[in-house]
Amino acid sequence: MIIAIDGPAASGKGTLAKRLAAYYGLPHLDTGLLYRATAKAMLDADQSLQNIEAAVSAARGLALIDFDADALRGREMGEAASIVAAIPQVREALNAVQRNFAHRPGGAVLDGRDIGTVICPEADVKIFVIASADARAQRRALELGQRGEKVTFTDILADIKQRDMRDSQRMTAPLKAAADAVVLDTTNLSVDTAFQAARSMIDRLRPEPA
Ligand code: DC
Repeated sequence: MIIAIDGPAASGKGTLAKRLAAYYGLPHLDTGLLYRATAKAMLDADQSLQNIEAAVSAARGLALIDFDADALRGREMGEAASIVAAIPQVREALNAVQRNFAHRPGGAVLDGRDIGTVICPEADVKIFVIASADARAQRRALELGQRGEKVTFTDILADIKQRDMRDSQRMTAPLKAAADAVVLDTTNLSVDTAFQAARSMIDRLRPEPA
């Protein structure tokens, strides 16, 4: 079973994907990490984030095994990832690794922006997670605060709005719900309630075991 979870920044899709993967015993790929790692490799090499050739070579050079996920989850890398993710050649370079992950025997859970639309249009279950910009900024400010980053709610709200615009207005694989995705609004839901809602949706939709 392939479960595709998409949605904007800080909508709760990563937490939900992790919980669902543990519950169904499936491997999980947070595809945002691929774009974050690409951006980090470029910044570490003092490359401009607009340099297409350097971006493609950074994306091709990624090894999933080398990811220090924690180091990639900060504010700066989220913004930088959104910039490199708008380069079509970077997306192309990262397609195969995501598709291969999705097609592991038994299936997988992937979360990102274009999983249900581009990476796995054939996914068995597609969930598009949304939440108000205020709720998302509150969650992200809390999370970054816990990481020790000094941030204000106002700055994070501005980041979120800018990222929403960049991610949904880019030409290639923009953030949008697949026509057959189920929308889950987590604005007023606890992590547990969102998980239970998704679980019952999946149990209704998923293919019968052979
Ligand atoms: O989910 P995240 O915040 O870690 O993602 C960081 C950026 O990476 C996001 O703003 C856009 C980009 N991204 C993408 O374009 N496609 C994906 N499947 C995942 C992330």
